[in-house]
Amino acid sequence: MEYVLKIVNLAVSRRERTQLIPVLNDINFFVEKGELFCLVGESGSGKTTLALSIMRLLPKSFVVTSGEILLNGQNILNVNEQSIRSIRGKDISIIFQDPGAYLDPLFTVGVHLQEALHGTTEDKNQLITKTLKDVGLEPEIQLVYPHQISGGQQQRVMIAMALINNPSIIIADEPTTALDVLTTRQIINLLSKIREKYHPAIFFITHDLELAMSIGIRIGIMYKGHIVEIFRPDREKPLHPYSGILLGNIDKKYFNEKIPVSSQTDINDWCPFFEKCPEREQKCQKKIPFIWRDSLTGIRCIKHGRNHQM
Ligand SMILES: Nc1ncnc2c1ncn2[C@@H]1O[C@H](COP(=O)(O)OP(=O)(O)OP(=O)(O)O)[C@@H](O)[C@H]1O
Ligand SMILES: [Mg+2]
Repeated sequence: MEYVLKIVNLAVSRRERTQLIPVLNDINFFVEKGELFCLVGESGSGKTTLALSIMRLLPKSFVVTSGEILLNGQNILNVNEQSIRSIRGKDISIIFQDPGAYLDPLFTVGVHLQEALHGTTEDKNQLITKTLKDVGLEPEIQLVYPHQISGGQQQRVMIAMALINNPSIIIADEPTTALDVLTTRQIINLLSKIREKYHPAIFFITHDLELAMSIGIRIGIMYKGHIVEIFRPDREKPLHPYSGILLGNIDKKYFNEKIPVSSQTDINDWCPFFEKCPEREQKCQKKIPFIWRDSLTGIRCIKHGRNHQM
């Protein structure tokens, strides 16, 4: 197995006055070379925090409290600011949800692309024209300013900037959330065409499990800063009760009311889904490890994990 990205025991907290509030806990997963890995989770679950940790772009109030982030084998948490700048954009790049907010209104599309380009032996203008063609844009768009083009075109420019240095992995943080249904489909098709042509791995973040199921090779489900399940949509059904709820398979009215949430013990260490789990049992009131089912998939659930442990 060849990993582009491997994350080991990552934990990230947010500083609030004198307190450290955990945002990501015990994150362990990897993205294989050329893989399309989708991360799905509700708002506030920590998806963007994870993406920004990988890019080393976390705001100052966040601290990585433990773990490693290996990009092509190198722990990027240990490299200095200058090295991370050359890694960013070149080996790894990111596309954000709102391209309009990211693109600078004072500079033309052409300037954005030139700025994004790291050292190359190829002719710069030819490379920019080729990359624009790859994302379905005409070379003339270089002369216009970001506000003169549509949201879909702006996102294509962002994708061109992410693609231009031929990175080994592209992170796409909800890249279609601000777009209409038709444009969303076009952008998704574009990303899959790019993957076929240049084989970057894509780490695709979305809150839409159905969308993830339609494009992802593997899917990670995130809940309250934990990855609770990783599965392959074309091979197996997700088994975590939270995944079931996301899929609409479990009716919330069947929540197990019998086991009250104890206020006496510290529930922070328990299964993160305990409070809302329709299948919760007494034995779930403890720290639950992520149990790998095989080398690619696994689950953070005692009930469903045990049956599938090899
Ligand atoms: N700049 C910030 N200042 C304070 N708290 C923040 C900040 N950014 C994120 N948080 C908190 O960190 C946690 C994780 O947020 P994050 O943005 O990573 O979630 P997300 O899964 O990307 O959500 P969304 O789907 O809304 O984009 C949340 O509890 C959020 O309130
Ligand atoms: Mg987010």
